[in-house]
Amino acid sequence: EKGGYPHFMLKEIFEQPDCIRDCMRGRINVEANNVVLSAIIDYKEHLLNAKRFIIVACGTSWHAGLIGKHLIESFCRIPVEVEYASEFRYRDPVIDEHDVVIALSQSGETADTLAAVDLAKSRGAFIYGICNAIGSSIPRATYTGSYIHVGPEIGVASTKAFTGQVTVLVMLALTLAKEKGTIGEEQYLTIVKELSHIPEKMKEVLKLNDTLAELSKTFTYAHNFIYLGRGYSYPVALEGALKLKEISYIHAEGYPAAEMKHGPIALIDAEMPVVVIATQNGLYEKVLSNIQEIKARKGKVIAFVTKGDTVISKIADCSIELPETIECLDPLITTVPLQLLAYHIAVCKGMDVDQPRNLAKSVTVE
Ligand code: M6R
Repeated sequence: EKGGYPHFMLKEIFEQPDCIRDCMRGRINVEANNVVLSAIIDYKEHLLNAKRFIIVACGTSWHAGLIGKHLIESFCRIPVEVEYASEFRYRDPVIDEHDVVIALSQSGETADTLAAVDLAKSRGAFIYGICNAIGSSIPRATYTGSYIHVGPEIGVASTKAFTGQVTVLVMLALTLAKEKGTIGEEQYLTIVKELSHIPEKMKEVLKLNDTLAELSKTFTYAHNFIYLGRGYSYPVALEGALKLKEISYIHAEGYPAAEMKHGPIALIDAEMPVVVIATQNGLYEKVLSNIQEIKARKGKVIAFVTKGDTVISKIADCSIELPETIECLDPLITTVPLQLLAYHIAVCKGMDVDQPRNLAKSVTVE
């Protein structure tokens, strides 16, 4: 049932190109010039008239929510807040019938997320679910929504659900932006076309598996890791750090790279591995100077760069080249090697990656 893989987690990481194709099937046309999430069209009055979106989620799904905020704000010009469901539900939040709540959950059974949905419903908000498990509690409690269709996820560490959630959020933002008229035709077409190429590009990334397995051997000594990214890559840094913590039990922190100098840079010394997502996008130059700040303090930089990068590869201790894509789709590429890095470090340390200690696949108690 693990399809020849030693763990469900590795199987699920490798399934991602197919899962993303399944997720897009029937939503992006064959010419790759149009994307439609039917629930968005069916409920467009509610969605277009919303004064604000609030995304509620936990864990990895919350990280996908941060990417969703960036996407929806950029393309639809609607303000978006991202809330930990567990905090939102106990805060007596300001929310009413002019708000749209998006509940993000792989399992559809997370107790805090379900409670946040119930609270938002009682205040009259419109509720949209983005889940994986068909017919689970959250899709039943929401008014409408979109499944991510990535198939059952067994590994406790979420992998394909995250990339599936990001894919749905891209499709949601594009569908809504087109309806609202807040995206130019050319930009829209460029993103849809590139989205249709993501599965092939993910396959290319998966070819780095052996390289990452080898690299992982050198990090089993580490007690701490820092993950840095900016813009769309900041949530990816958080997600990379969470993956490592969950399965290898190495303490890891994700930060927006520019926040380093406001405190965490004090932690940097020659023992500290720093993973930096440094692909060629709008903030590349800024990330480059963040890397220089770390190198000046002798930190060990593992940089994930765009293929052909010659600048960062000269200063980083190790640089891994990834296929080029457009900025808003970068998380679909950069997340994959971070999943593999966490996986291999945990395997090298002899940990049970599918069933890490103290964790359950769905957190149905608060
Ligand atoms: O099923 P959900 O997406 O609602 O689960 C939320 C979190 O419990 C989940 O993402 C958790 O953080 C994972 N173990 C992360 O790998």
